[in-house]
Amino acid sequence: MNDITNNTTLVLGATGKTGSRVAQKLVDQGISVRTAARSGANIHFDWDDPSTFAAALHGTTGVYLVSPVMRVDFAGVVAQFLDEAEQVGVRHVTYLSAYGIEHVPPKVALRAVELDLAARTSFTHTILRPAWFMQNFSETFLKPVNDEIVVPCGNGAEAFVNVEDIASVAAATLSDPSRHAGHAYAPTGPEALTFEEAARHISNAVGRKITYRDMDRQAWIDAMTGAGVPAVYGEVLRTLTETVASGLGSRPNNDVFIATGVAPTSFEEFAAKTVAAWR
Ligand SMILES: NC(=O)c1ccc[n+]([C@@H]2O[C@H](COP(=O)([O-])OP(=O)(O)OC[C@H]3O[C@@H](n4cnc5c(N)ncnc54)[C@H](OP(=O)(O)O)[C@@H]3O)[C@@H](O)[C@H]2O)c1
Repeated sequence: MNDITNNTTLVLGATGKTGSRVAQKLVDQGISVRTAARSGANIHFDWDDPSTFAAALHGTTGVYLVSPVMRVDFAGVVAQFLDEAEQVGVRHVTYLSAYGIEHVPPKVALRAVELDLAARTSFTHTILRPAWFMQNFSETFLKPVNDEIVVPCGNGAEAFVNVEDIASVAAATLSDPSRHAGHAYAPTGPEALTFEEAARHISNAVGRKITYRDMDRQAWIDAMTGAGVPAVYGEVLRTLTETVASGLGSRPNNDVFIATGVAPTSFEEFAAKTVAAWR
């Protein structure tokens, strides 16, 4: 049953990898959507300018919450946003967190927001803790350069998940919040792959050799920060890559199917549909 079909859902980060797909899937279900980002969306929304919160939230009953990206200090401003969401009568928030965040200390901002949501009673919430996105290989930092994927993850494996599947889970929670209230889902793909295996799938899809190269972690972080990643986020990248390299990357689970009734996409299927990104 759709609880909020006749109301408007605010999608933050709506020009990004998950938000754009969440918005599309909600629209496809006939749900009224307001997209928000600093530019290119229905409404201008800027985490650095809380005066933009009120107009974005006005008349909304559901929120897809993407907290500030590549930052580590956002719990306070997200709390301010959630206070305003309470005031305007938002009934459900679906929060994009990350895999394993339930195990990190409360001072980590993603975890602090999860705990903030858990403490609020005026609206329900669902938490999404996805594995590394498959689209990192086609849209962001894992995209091959000179046919090479470079990241310090050794032979570690990760259950990469298709962002389309994350968006399907998010859309399910926002279109039927009462069914998903209080749930946390950790969307993964159907198999854990090493980066070498992921490169092989991409090679097979595009018909030329794409290779994976491990590299010194500090040198990689220096290169990332040199390319514009904030220095403070370099430490997050260190933790993320160390986790995978040490064999503690995500492992497949059933959460996409539990939330949506549809099995998650394999990396092979993703690669076959994404060849244009690597041509
Ligand atoms: N990549 C992964 O493998 C992975 C895995 C698990 C979890 N995650 C989590 O996913 C989240 C990122 O989500 P995503 O990949 O869907 O986003 P994304 O593709 O990185 O896009 C970021 C979105 O946020 C908007 N944005 C950026 N700065 C903003 C600001 N100051 N105020 C308002 N909006 C702003 C951007 O639009 P504008 O620039 O136009 O404002 C854009 O719509 C992060 O929290 C990350 O921890 C990522």
